[in-house]
Amino acid sequence: MPTENRIGVIGTGYVGLVSAACFAHLGLTVHGVDRDEVKIGLLNKGIMPIYEQDLAPLVAAGKQQGRLTFSTDLPRMVQEVDTIFIAVGTPAQEKTGAADLSHLRSVALGLAPLLQAHRYLVIKSTVPVGTSAQFSAWLSERNPDAQFTMVSNPEFLREGMAVSDFLQPDRVLLGVETPEARAHMENVYAPLSEKGTRVLFTNIVSAELIKYAANGFLATKIAFVNEMASLCDTLGANIEHLVAGIGTDKRIGPGYLQPGPGFGGSCFPKDTLALQDMGRAAGMPLSIIEGAIVANARHKQRMVDNITALLGHDLRGKRLAIWGLAFKAGTDDTRESAAVFIVKALLKAGATLQVIDPVVTTKKWDNLALGESVQDTARLISADSCAASIENADAIVVLTEWDLFKTVDWAALKKGYKDSAFMPVIDFRNLYDPLTMGSLGIRYISLGRPSSVETLA
Ligand code: UDX
Repeated sequence: MPTENRIGVIGTGYVGLVSAACFAHLGLTVHGVDRDEVKIGLLNKGIMPIYEQDLAPLVAAGKQQGRLTFSTDLPRMVQEVDTIFIAVGTPAQEKTGAADLSHLRSVALGLAPLLQAHRYLVIKSTVPVGTSAQFSAWLSERNPDAQFTMVSNPEFLREGMAVSDFLQPDRVLLGVETPEARAHMENVYAPLSEKGTRVLFTNIVSAELIKYAANGFLATKIAFVNEMASLCDTLGANIEHLVAGIGTDKRIGPGYLQPGPGFGGSCFPKDTLALQDMGRAAGMPLSIIEGAIVANARHKQRMVDNITALLGHDLRGKRLAIWGLAFKAGTDDTRESAAVFIVKALLKAGATLQVIDPVVTTKKWDNLALGESVQDTARLISADSCAASIENADAIVVLTEWDLFKTVDWAALKKGYKDSAFMPVIDFRNLYDPLTMGSLGIRYISLGRPSSVETLA
């Protein structure tokens, strides 16, 4: 008989691995399974398949205490546990942007024959509304006698902060349809609720939608502030003052209002597209989400246009220092990174790029998917320091907000400038104070902030 609070996690990717390690840290016994033997092999050897701050020590401690095991053995895991979290990928399909549920479907087909005794099946993957019902239909089609109860439990983990987001969440969200399921999940999450975490219960459809609504709203906030930053540039207003001015209004709040080169990563772009697709499919187009998607695409292009407006459309013979490739600081992830979009466009325009990113090193450049548009990747050169990146450069372009860039000694760095009078620093993360840069005689251009020298227009 399964013991209370023994859980299984299917999928040891980003969400699954964080969830498994954190549940083990909270005192549950966890068995993580994945069909990827290489990944499981690495985990069993104590090697992390992904980088995530604070995760490696939790995985090591869980294994050492015997609370966390990994295998490819789905039938054994199902026998051992009473609750199974499903955390497999749901990437956006290329054509429509709708979530690709093929991985979930194969999980359902694999699980169905194993559900002779009752199990709670908790979907953690971000899935369109109606997917839990679809999952349940796949199970019952394959095995009409399968014994299970569906639960929806979307995650709100930020990359780089996932462990603390899991252990100190703003809320835990659970979609359930029966009092038994509610009581069961209250028990699973008791280690967090006992520490004061709010656990919100709703029905499954609402839980599925809340996840998309949260990401859609946050992405919209960023798209909004980025447009405001460009408007500030045009009108001579200051985006930092604007954000302070609106963010102090409790109804708006200060979070997710930092201008940047455009939102990216594995969630916001995919989830906004999926939400757009859901609205259209329901005959209820979501004009605000559709607007945010368009605004973000325009914004990324505007960042490229800002560079070419300054340096010329034909960048052949120009050398640019590129600071950052990751979609944000704290991660080696370059999926949908605005930095990568800008890098591609600059390469296409003929520029030579001297790139520094503290974690996206050349080993990971294959992931950049530079595509056919970029024939000559010899023009993409890795620099091992900020100083090396600016050798003979015509401009510096700051794309990711790494501490390494925040703490640059500009007075010292400027000595390495090819042409100290001209070389502009084009900062799409607003990392530096325009007045200080101006007082150092540096031509500094940032987003939506009047500088002592000039602003983007
Ligand atoms: C996001 C959500 O925050 C998380 O709740 C969800 O589960 C997964 O998606 P993540 O993709 O890790 O997490 O990134 P996040 O830190 O939210 O940033 C997303 C993008 O928005 C990045 O490109 C980031 O640079 C950008 N961003 C974020 C801004 O440009 N300005 C901001 O103020 C905040």
